[in-house]
Amino acid sequence: MEEHLTVGRVAELAGVSVRTLHHYDEIGLLEPSTRTAAGHRAYSAGDVERLREVLAYRRLGFGLREIADLVGDPATDAVAHLCRLRGLLMDQRDRAAAMVAAIDRELEARALGIRTTPEEQLRVFGAQLYDAIGSAYPATRRTEPRIAARIWDALGDARTVLNVGAGTGSYEPPDRDVTAVEPSAVMRAQRPVGAAPCVAAAAESLPFADQSFDAAMAVSTVHHWPDPVAGLREMRRVARRVVVFTYDADDTGWRQRFWLTRDYLPEFADLLVGWPSLADLTRAIGGRAEPVLVPWDCADGFFEAYWRRPEAYLDEHVRRAVSVWTRVGQQAEQRAVSTLREDLSSGRWAERNRDLVALDAAELGLRLLVA
Ligand SMILES: C[S@@+](CC[C@H](N)C(=O)[O-])C[C@H]1O[C@@H](n2cnc3c(N)ncnc32)[C@H](O)[C@@H]1O
Repeated sequence: MEEHLTVGRVAELAGVSVRTLHHYDEIGLLEPSTRTAAGHRAYSAGDVERLREVLAYRRLGFGLREIADLVGDPATDAVAHLCRLRGLLMDQRDRAAAMVAAIDRELEARALGIRTTPEEQLRVFGAQLYDAIGSAYPATRRTEPRIAARIWDALGDARTVLNVGAGTGSYEPPDRDVTAVEPSAVMRAQRPVGAAPCVAAAAESLPFADQSFDAAMAVSTVHHWPDPVAGLREMRRVARRVVVFTYDADDTGWRQRFWLTRDYLPEFADLLVGWPSLADLTRAIGGRAEPVLVPWDCADGFFEAYWRRPEAYLDEHVRRAVSVWTRVGQQAEQRAVSTLREDLSSGRWAERNRDLVALDAAELGLRLLVA
């Protein structure tokens, strides 16, 4: 018969209070699999394993709700959790080392009476947003085959490909020699086993020699870069061909056409203030822009993906995997979602967007830049 540990013993071993374990049980994060005859909690080896995962994610700074999603995912077994935790801890160590180095540099500069620029002071904190929201990403963000086909086609006969802002590795062509670049530790740690090697760096300063890749690609990432034009120029420097999947921020027409930004989330426009025009982006790589229509059943859950499946936006998992919702702020998000919910149940949404049902793909401002 399997041996079980009492709540007191588990608390003692793990260095947490019995109250903490009771709380984890009450919120469904860690429910001990059995009770003693006297009704006390009894923890099996499997329960202890789950507690180890919970405490490790906690130590890495994840919130209890995020941890519940992570440890509750039936597709992730103990070994996958250990690999992911290992990756996150290594990244935390690298990040701490980078911060120590940055502090040393600043101390040295100050000793010499040199003032560091704001860019230099903040560089080490880059990719903060994805470190905060990245764990929700894999739930709905995956490769959309029709968009992948366009990207891979644009890569031409490139054999070596650099994927900048690579995230968890969507759209990486399986038949080429890919190197990924991704500044967020959380995103890097979620890259599947066997994915292309990934370098911790930002687009604006790629640690590669001139023309060292046949092609460089960047998918749904340029709008996150502090300096998009500098990042695109870097891609141009390190690769002979450049392919970028992004959107046209200066064409207000599509924002008016997309019911989500038009009727529910006008705050989206605020996120685009100061964003370079499509012409600036295209000029930075010396290329051309081609429209990419969004299929009605788009497999990659980016912001525009559910234009014909409005109920999807009511789902917290869908929203958490799209940075727009975090960036507009909780108040705007809650208002948009509750108004949409009301309009869906009253039939107002269907009435206003009657013509969408007949469309298989929509032009929502997404563009493929090719150079
Ligand atoms: C929406 S995700 C896209 C990920 C992946 N390309 C995909 O298509 O699934 C945006 C990614 O850009 C990364 N990112 C943010 N700032 C960056 C920068 N300055 N340079 C390169 N990547 C950056 C984020 O960490 C995040 O992983």
